[in-house]
Amino acid sequence: MSQRRAAITALGIHVPERVVTNADLEKIVDTSDEWIRTRTGIHQRHVVEKGTPTSVIAALAAQDALRRRGIGADEIDLIVVATVTPDMAFPATACLVQERIGATKAWGFDVSAACSGFTYALTVGAQFVESRAHSKVLVIGADVMTSILDYTDRTTCVLFGDGAGAVILEPREDGTGLLDFAHEVDGSGATYLNMPAGGSLLPPSHETVDQRLHFVKQQGQHVFKYAVRKFADQSEKILLRNDLTGTDVDLFVAHQANIRIIEAAQHRMGLPDSKVVKNIDRYGNTTAATIPLALGTALDEKRLRAGELVLLAAVGAGFTVGTVLLRWSGVPWD
Ligand SMILES: CC(C)(COP(=O)(O)OP(=O)(O)OC[C@H]1O[C@@H](n2cnc3c(N)ncnc32)[C@H](O)[C@@H]1OP(=O)(O)O)[C@@H](O)C(=O)NCCC(=O)NCCS
Repeated sequence: MSQRRAAITALGIHVPERVVTNADLEKIVDTSDEWIRTRTGIHQRHVVEKGTPTSVIAALAAQDALRRRGIGADEIDLIVVATVTPDMAFPATACLVQERIGATKAWGFDVSAACSGFTYALTVGAQFVESRAHSKVLVIGADVMTSILDYTDRTTCVLFGDGAGAVILEPREDGTGLLDFAHEVDGSGATYLNMPAGGSLLPPSHETVDQRLHFVKQQGQHVFKYAVRKFADQSEKILLRNDLTGTDVDLFVAHQANIRIIEAAQHRMGLPDSKVVKNIDRYGNTTAATIPLALGTALDEKRLRAGELVLLAAVGAGFTVGTVLLRWSGVPWD
């Protein structure tokens, strides 16, 4: 028997039905399908019906994971939700999901790490499984980014979409599960990507609304350069300290923010296309949901098998950087 590790034993996803194409955005901001495709790799994104909160899509993803695993919500011990678009400042979205799915014995909380949110929540959830405190932890990455997008700002509104993904973590002693993580924050990045108002710094007021401060603000080029460097540096770091190289990785699942960022990291690690998941064309950047959605894409394409070595990597507002190395344990997927 090898050591007890937290393994992903089920995956569930939810993407809203409504699709907004680049051509649709051409009608509301000064942009073009060609610019969006060539600069970002995005062709379309899914968006919720107006008024649908994060807890609803998070719960749908959670229920999909529970159904595939064949267990009830009442078996879940802990719910960790990664999101930057909680339904409200409080209570935590995890509480709203707990109520929605009927996870009667679970406690829970939210993790705020933007695009790295899923890697952070996964790592946090895993600690409770490895320590034997819990045996079934639900980790969700969900965001309704369209609720904080300024559709008069072409530099941000074309980039994001809505979506949710959930995994169940359970103990395994067969060598599969989470092997290592390497996370990092750099708070000097706060000025380059944020939503300025609505918190204690700038509580909501007529002025904050008039100045459009309740939306995502980004200095794209700065974030781009940081992300390109950090994806590759942090991925190399976690591989190196586990005596591995890029060739040992079976699947690289990167946060989907820009196809050029993913491909830069791919090339630095010397990975062929067959080992890299890319679905940004369909979903855009769904923030905390991109990694579980990408795992779903890999499973749909039959590119993820039990025993394979998987590297997750993300960079997000903060700045936050997250990498997780895991040996895939296999999940029910039909
Ligand atoms: C946002 C991003 C796609 C912009 O791409 P870029 O190649 O850096 O483009 P720039 O910001 O240099 O802008 C180039 C030009 O395109 C214009 N432009 C920006 N958005 C546009 C749009 N949607 N349509 C058409 N033109 C656009 C700019 O105004 C600029 O015009 P100018 O040269 O006349 O000033 C890119 O910087 C990026 O992906 N950044 C990281 C995003 C990210 O990862 N965010 C989430 C956190 S992980």
